[in-house]
Amino acid sequence: MPITILAVESSCDDTSIGILRDGEILANITYGQSVHEKYGGVIPEAASRQHMQNILPVVEAAFAKANISKKDLSAIAYTQSPGLIGSLMVGVSFAKSFAQALGIPTIAVNHMQAHVLSNLLQDPKPSFPFLCLTVSGGHTQIVKVTSPLQQEIIGTTIDDAAGEAFDKAAKMLGLPYPGGPLVDKYAKLGDATKFVFARPNIADLNFSFSGVKTSILYFLQKQKKENENFIEENLNDLCASIQKTIIDILIKKIIKATKETGIKNVCIAGGVSANSGLRNALADAGKQYHWQTFIPAFEYCTDNGAMIAIVAYYKYLAEEFASLDIGPSARTVA
Ligand code: KG4
Ligand code: ZN
Repeated sequence: MPITILAVESSCDDTSIGILRDGEILANITYGQSVHEKYGGVIPEAASRQHMQNILPVVEAAFAKANISKKDLSAIAYTQSPGLIGSLMVGVSFAKSFAQALGIPTIAVNHMQAHVLSNLLQDPKPSFPFLCLTVSGGHTQIVKVTSPLQQEIIGTTIDDAAGEAFDKAAKMLGLPYPGGPLVDKYAKLGDATKFVFARPNIADLNFSFSGVKTSILYFLQKQKKENENFIEENLNDLCASIQKTIIDILIKKIIKATKETGIKNVCIAGGVSANSGLRNALADAGKQYHWQTFIPAFEYCTDNGAMIAIVAYYKYLAEEFASLDIGPSARTVA
């Protein structure tokens, strides 16, 4: 009997379903939520309401793409944490009710662990051990991975996440939420050496982005006093310089982590790994330091059901099933 898993990701503002059979992805369908754009950030209430509207159509679309029916499923997986409590609840409630109706087990998955394993969704796959720089809207971590389910966080942010730094800088430039992809777009046309922003000086493997944010804010305030059109006239160069600052901070720490651990298999994951500048910088560092580098396909960088499904697959093999109680409790949302 093949192992077939349907996985639900609903931790923030994407409703996504992944269907996997014996380690191979059959479908990965994601519905985004544009409702948050006008607010400059995710509104939790609106997000959970949209998840409720989207979840059944996404599930239908995923079954159609995978060309299977519910009778083929071995288990239902869901994102347990971290995430917005209301958004998580929609996915958890759906997964547990569906599993109960079908008489099959559920599998609870940690969202950050799933981002890391998005690197196992395509070939070539990294061999163990590997390091993963996980950079998303809520987290920035360096993770040492010794097996699919053994992951140790060896560096993390002490304030903002890398994606948050992109989004907050974009907001200061007047760009809509989420600004990260737009900074990437305009950066391609700009000069990354035009403006210089503060870089943190932290000795260990941890990250800090709050100083960068403040440095950008004060710089823009000063320039706008002298020329109210400063941002419009320099948008591409500002985006390129901001992007370079954030990427330099990330790459410096991953170099340090490879030196400290002696591990030369290096992956990236999370929404910010969609950034073209970061992808190029990782590939360049890989050539310079003789690493094997792994970069997920775009659809597996931002939040997606396939990454939940791959963790669930390994948990299924390890027989790590969840109870049918409806969670998560507030305590599990880290
Ligand atoms: O992993 P993700 O989809 O959701 C979270 O779990 O947070 O990451 C979303 C983050 C946002 O901050 C978004 O601006 C950022 O990833 N992002 C990017 C790019 N694409 C997404 N940041 C920079 N460049 C991109 N191309
Ligand atoms: Zn994420």
